[in-house]
Amino acid sequence: MQVSNLLSGKRGIIFGALDSNSIAWKVAEKCHEQGAKFTLTNAPVALRMGAINQLAEQCGSTVIPADATNMTDLDNLLQKSQEILGGKLDFILHSIGMSLNVRKNKPYTDLDYDYFQKTLDISGLSFHRVLQSAYKSEVMNKNGSILALSYIAAQKVFPFYNDMADAKALLESIARSFGYHFGKRDGVRVNTVSQSPTRTTAGSGVKGFDTLYDYANIISPLGNATAESCADFCVVMFSDLSRMITMQNIYHDGGYSSTGVSVELIDIMNK
Ligand code: NAI
Repeated sequence: MQVSNLLSGKRGIIFGALDSNSIAWKVAEKCHEQGAKFTLTNAPVALRMGAINQLAEQCGSTVIPADATNMTDLDNLLQKSQEILGGKLDFILHSIGMSLNVRKNKPYTDLDYDYFQKTLDISGLSFHRVLQSAYKSEVMNKNGSILALSYIAAQKVFPFYNDMADAKALLESIARSFGYHFGKRDGVRVNTVSQSPTRTTAGSGVKGFDTLYDYANIISPLGNATAESCADFCVVMFSDLSRMITMQNIYHDGGYSSTGVSVELIDIMNK
């Protein structure tokens, strides 16, 4: 794509790059290409896998461990990032999701509630924690942009998405609610991007993922959105080009969310 320096001079934090399939990994690569400076972060246990160091080297970034459910870690991350990057922040990507109920194959009608609380804490509440820490410490520049990644199971039922659906509904609600306060006080924007099924560690953990992926691909007039295209869109959302968009859940899904049925699906059903 022929755009350059869309994020020149901007500073940020990118959560959630686990390996080169991660959506956050692609976002980091694109932000780097577009001239941004940023720190990378992930849960200490994920950092032990080591892949993130390769990305950090590629992007000239520092890696700062932070469990997104721990306020001390988050406060430290925000403060250190400012010090390292040399000023206030312009963007943050929250790209975090995990459900022990999904991992342990607990069906939605037989959830373990300790796991459920963890799902909500890691995949939903952690966004509030990031926002609250950023709001209180006043780390964001005016017109800054904060994004989290969501999925359409927040609006429609996908039985195997399990308690992650509730976490995504919470996540999207937090973006709206906090977006009001952050917008009023600091002109900072808060949005969620609802992405197509994507082959990553988190995505592939959902039961029946391959079928879900193929189904969405057949329904969507543009086909499924790739992680790369999602990363391009995140760059736009971090740039000043999207400066009046806030408190939205934006579908980045090739048209899936607005399509009832496709000719291709009818043809398959008729066979
Ligand atoms: P991924 O598995 O590469 O990324 C998930 C990340 O969450 C990992 O880096 C993991 O270490 C991190 N994480 C888990 N617990 C954490 C904690 N306590 N503190 C800090 N980080 C923690 O998978 P992917 O697909 O790139 O996921 C990124 C986001 O995109 C998630 O919010 C996911 O729900 C969302 N999404 C993914 C889709 C897919 O089909 N892959 C579709 C729509 C949204």
